[in-house]
Amino acid sequence: MSRLAPPEALVIRAPDDMHVHLREGAALAGYAADAARQFARILVMPNTHPPVWSPGDLAAYREGIAAAAPGLDLVMTFKVRAGMDAATVRALRDSGARAGKLYPQGATTNSGDGLASVDAAYPVFEAMEECGLALCIHGEEPSAPALEREEAFLPEVEGILRRFPRLKVVLEHVSSAAGIAFVREASGNLAATVTVHHLLYTTEDLLGGKLDVHLFCRPLLKGARDRAAIQEAVLAGDRRLFFGSDSAPHPLADKQSGAAGVYSMPVSLPLLAAFFVDHDAAGRLEDFVSRFGAEFYGLPLNEGRVRILRRAWRVPDELHGVVPLAAGRELQWRVEEDPASLTGPHYVDRREP
Ligand code: NCD
Ligand code: ZN
Repeated sequence: MSRLAPPEALVIRAPDDMHVHLREGAALAGYAADAARQFARILVMPNTHPPVWSPGDLAAYREGIAAAAPGLDLVMTFKVRAGMDAATVRALRDSGARAGKLYPQGATTNSGDGLASVDAAYPVFEAMEECGLALCIHGEEPSAPALEREEAFLPEVEGILRRFPRLKVVLEHVSSAAGIAFVREASGNLAATVTVHHLLYTTEDLLGGKLDVHLFCRPLLKGARDRAAIQEAVLAGDRRLFFGSDSAPHPLADKQSGAAGVYSMPVSLPLLAAFFVDHDAAGRLEDFVSRFGAEFYGLPLNEGRVRILRRAWRVPDELHGVVPLAAGRELQWRVEEDPASLTGPHYVDRREP
């Protein structure tokens, strides 16, 4: 923990969240507004009901989000489906997709329509490689024991990297020491997103005391050794690791009946600020949330600045009928809000540094 006196505020380039679930229908507006309060740009996952599969789906989803959160910059994705032809992949790219998402069938929430076999989608990956789309991977082998699913899936990722050397691949929400070692040893085309919950929590928090369903997610939280590997790599400033919250809200009743996903959006930046400051690494926060992800995807860096203030606040017990991560806890950092702005990210200080 820190030996330095903590600063009063951190000023960083406006951040990206490179893995977000916003859902659909009536719930979307609230989740999108929460994202706009924290982030300048988000990468939106496609596992909606129905999924984002076609250029039309993608355009309609983007419009719905933009109507709810006009200031938010959106990076759109589609779900990879076996049999998708190259013309569809190109049309998705032309309608603004940056990446396709591979869900192994049954690996997580809304993935019953995922891939039963990864090889079946090789022609899709080839088309994606050809037209410069990235491949985001939910890297878990559903038939492996629950805590070993990520490690068991790594050979599939290896096979994809070997076969498609120009394809940019993101191992989403890396959760294990094995996953971290794999990313750090792989070629420059592989990166990984890191969530705030996999960075800070372990299986002990999930089920060591009273079962905490609000920490239940895929991939599962792992042990202390895994968490230490993630923390060490992030603190070392490895540019292949960047922030993606995997913020995945589920209404309370769904959580109680076993839905996987953590609603981390409202507390991600405050928890990350505390983590970096407590490890005397405040200077690395900006790279992790505002630079490495954009650079990997070849996106321009955001221009605004955000101030994160050292000011205690209590996380609400519930937001939009969802229990957020760290509900009811007092956090030490909060994103500064700009009361003048109702459309863009509230907190963004648009002055250039
Ligand atoms: C996500 C969701 O709820 O959409 N759930 C989760 O546990 N992470 C899907 C996902 O990213 O796996
Ligand atoms: Zn996710």
